[in-house]
Amino acid sequence: MTMSGKTDAHDVPALLERLGRRSIVFVGLMGAGKTVIGRKVAGRLGLPFIDSDHEIENISRMSIPDLFASYGEAEFRALERRVIDRLLGEGPQVLSTGGGAFMNGLTRAAIAHHGVSVWLKADLDTLMHRVAKRQNRPLLKADDPRAVMRHLMEERYPVYEEADVIVQTRDELKEVIAAEVIAGLAAFLEDGGECRKPAP
Ligand code: S3P
Repeated sequence: MTMSGKTDAHDVPALLERLGRRSIVFVGLMGAGKTVIGRKVAGRLGLPFIDSDHEIENISRMSIPDLFASYGEAEFRALERRVIDRLLGEGPQVLSTGGGAFMNGLTRAAIAHHGVSVWLKADLDTLMHRVAKRQNRPLLKADDPRAVMRHLMEERYPVYEEADVIVQTRDELKEVIAAEVIAGLAAFLEDGGECRKPAP
């Protein structure tokens, strides 16, 4: 469901009770704002925030570009999968995942079981504008990064579509987007979101 509007702060305790030990898991493409909005949502809900890419960098003591360069994407994906699997056991929390994580079927099933997923959906211009600010995305080190991003949108958006909550992100205050995420989560959980997904 795509949500808009703000949620009443008084709904937070009910939301947290329905969430239980699950994590709120942000998915979406590079530049969608998973970390910025995830951190904001965590602050509003009083939950810890963790970013799976930061965790991967901490345990490997390497940056993501160095990991890709030294060990290749397949090794990075294997590590990403293990790290997210472990982190999902540590909820409730807000967990921001790297853009490719949700593409792995096992990771998707684990997120469905231990979390509530939120896709921050963005258009190509918004994504390109944001990723241009930092040179830390190995997949975009290409002659035509815009074409790469367009291809990733085609490939991944049908899969991100499986997320429990979908929020259209855009050039708007992060407080507004965070409020829309919380409203979306509240609606999903009120709607019986806790029992929709079977265990993998
Ligand atoms: C990737 C996204 C990155 C990072 C890695 C691969 C992807 O994370 O995990 O560079 O496959 O989309 P962000 O989405 O946080 O930029």
